[in-house]
Amino acid sequence: MDLLLVGCGAIGTEIARAAQDMPEVGRLSLFDVRRESAEQLARSLSKAHVARSLEEGIREATLVVEAASQDAVRQVAAMALDAGRDLMLLSVSALADEALLQQLTRLARERGRSIYVPSGAIAGVDGLKAARVGKLSSVTLTTRKPPAALGLQGIEQAKVVYEGPADEAMRLFPKNVNIAASLAIAGLGTHQTRVRIVADPGITRNLHELSVQGDFGSLSLKVENEPSPMNPASSHLASLSAIALLRQIASPLKVGT
Ligand SMILES: NC(=O)c1ccc[n+]([C@@H]2O[C@H](COP(=O)([O-])OP(=O)(O)OC[C@H]3O[C@@H](n4cnc5c(N)ncnc54)[C@H](O)[C@@H]3O)[C@@H](O)[C@H]2O)c1
Repeated sequence: MDLLLVGCGAIGTEIARAAQDMPEVGRLSLFDVRRESAEQLARSLSKAHVARSLEEGIREATLVVEAASQDAVRQVAAMALDAGRDLMLLSVSALADEALLQQLTRLARERGRSIYVPSGAIAGVDGLKAARVGKLSSVTLTTRKPPAALGLQGIEQAKVVYEGPADEAMRLFPKNVNIAASLAIAGLGTHQTRVRIVADPGITRNLHELSVQGDFGSLSLKVENEPSPMNPASSHLASLSAIALLRQIASPLKVGT
């Protein structure tokens, strides 16, 4: 497969390095609004080159991987699908916009293409998807972060700063919602998925707890995420998850739901 990578920051760099080592990846085109970021990354990878424009990058690719921003999703997703390319999205919170999600899903169906959403910085999406086949009664995500990571100051003790539906959490904490968005898509939607956000000055890593109840029984798990080496706001697991999905797409053997 030939890749266009949109966004050459923390996650994009890790994906590009992994793609460099994958024999299944032929051409690797890079695009970033900050062209120098794409150029710097391309210099370190023999397979990669900088696309002159998004249009050119899409023309050269079979799979477009977005690892940039919500704006980038709006700019590139429909264009890539319309051109008959598969798509992988990291800025999944953009899909909390129901109209955009429906537009992209319809376009993918019409063109016979796929939209891939990696689990990102959370685990348990496989179990949630399976549980959704039966009757699902509740999905709750509790996210615990150092106050600074939530843009808050002056908090001396752990404090619940939000509790309610995922859609409202996304409006109030737009930079902290990719996981809530992935869980909402896999499970009960943005309105019925519950989110609790705790600002905790006593921790250094971002913690996420997922609790799911349904006919199948119950599922609970906790992820303690190390930050990405290049961007403390993104978890390292998010990059690894995108690379694992890329490998799964390339492999004839697909493991996991
Ligand atoms: N799904 C998840 O669990 C998860 C976890 C962490 C981060 N993310 C999301 O992944 C995305 C990338 O994260 P990161 O840590 O690599 O960020 P980053 O800031 O390190 O890198 C983003 C890069 O994208 C570029 N960019 C921004 N807007 C662009 C656009 N419209 N077109 C082209 N390039 C653009 C920037 O110049 C930058 O180089 C973010 O949207 C982040 O919210 C998702």
